Amino acid sequence: MIKYICAKDEYEAGSCAARIFAEIINSKSDAVIGLATGSTPLKMYAKLVEMCKNSEISFKNVISVNLDEYIGLQPSHDQSYAYFMRENLFKHIDINPDNTFIPNGVSQDDLSECDRYNNVLEKIGGVDVQLLGIGHNGHIAFNEPNSFFTKDTSIVDLSESTINANSRFFISKNDVPRRAISMGIGRILRSKRILLLATGESKAKILEESLFGRITPQIPASILQFYQGEMIVVGDKAAFSEIIKNHPEVL
Ligand code: PGA
Repeated sequence: MIKYICAKDEYEAGSCAARIFAEIINSKSDAVIGLATGSTPLKMYAKLVEMCKNSEISFKNVISVNLDEYIGLQPSHDQSYAYFMRENLFKHIDINPDNTFIPNGVSQDDLSECDRYNNVLEKIGGVDVQLLGIGHNGHIAFNEPNSFFTKDTSIVDLSESTINANSRFFISKNDVPRRAISMGIGRILRSKRILLLATGESKAKILEESLFGRITPQIPASILQFYQGEMIVVGDKAAFSEIIKNHPEVL
């Protein structure tokens, strides 16, 4: 059963997602939270920072796991996801940096790094709530459209559509890494709860297609229709516009 929350705009959607995370952390101080990167979660992270500064929430005992990282970018590179997390969340909250886990994009051996990350996830135990964004091509984490669904953490080739979408953060398209290390879809589906966050008109079609269309690895997010845990989709009116038009009964 999927719950839909349609917010007025991206600020309200971010606040709503932050409040859902805060509620989970406040009821379990050592919660394991799954985090995502990209433009979409920025408002949510800003709200979590504000709540932490106002002592409405503490991350002291929280463990975080991230979905993915570019291959080849040092954690100090300003487009690495390690840097993103530090700048947009971790350095502003009371989380213990030793309790934050992100795949290493510059390991000597990418396949061993996948094993290491799977072991980290195994050792941490279940993720209490996993945040997901959605790509324009329906990817979740960096699990790109393919002929199969990935199970565990793996090395992925980024699709042309993702490279184009993410080139906005780099000086030129040529600077966008071509590969990434990504938590597998099988792992994501093992989270106790999933919060899918989507904002903006450009996500409207893929959001509807993923949640109401055919379930196919060509649209990785479509597998979420089979998810057995508690799933909440939080979006703004723009991202929900196709769902509002074609499936108003769910709202
Ligand atoms: P975005 O990326 O938040 O920058 O749109 C989402 C994603 O690719 O998962």
